[in-house]
Amino acid sequence: MAGTAPRRVLVLNGPNLGRLGLREPGIYGTTTHAELADGCVRLGKELDLDVEVRQSDAEAELIGWLHEAADQEIPVVLNPAAFTHYSYALRDAVAQRTAPLIEVHISNPHAREDFRSVSVISAVATGTIAGFGPLSYHLALRALAAGTAR
Ligand code: DQA
Repeated sequence: MAGTAPRRVLVLNGPNLGRLGLREPGIYGTTTHAELADGCVRLGKELDLDVEVRQSDAEAELIGWLHEAADQEIPVVLNPAAFTHYSYALRDAVAQRTAPLIEVHISNPHAREDFRSVSVISAVATGTIAGFGPLSYHLALRALAAGTAR
């Protein structure tokens, strides 16, 4: 009997996350973006998810990927990085989602500068996971795999 294809998931990382490993390691740790991506793909295989990880510093590119996810009903794990705090354009793209979208952060933005306490994304996301380093992504993938996220 033929098995069903693993469910596609997009992991989208916003600006400066391509510099993980080099960027403020005291806050973001020493895991590089390539290692983070590899960990997500590997966990995806265990969870029967076909995970693709993309990173961009450009708002327009992230918005285009969110449109693609909306058009194809693909669940998303999104770290909007600094766009979290002020990008209404990104929020409007997330609001068009047709599948679960989990907002993730490596650090806990609420434990940092005041401007990081505001997320313009959270209200249109399925949920938010923050403060667990790369494990934030893994928890999000597990939530998607559980199939209960809306
Ligand atoms: C971040 C938190 C944001 O405040 C920050 O601008 C980032 C990364 C995180 O993953 O902890 O770039 O989203």
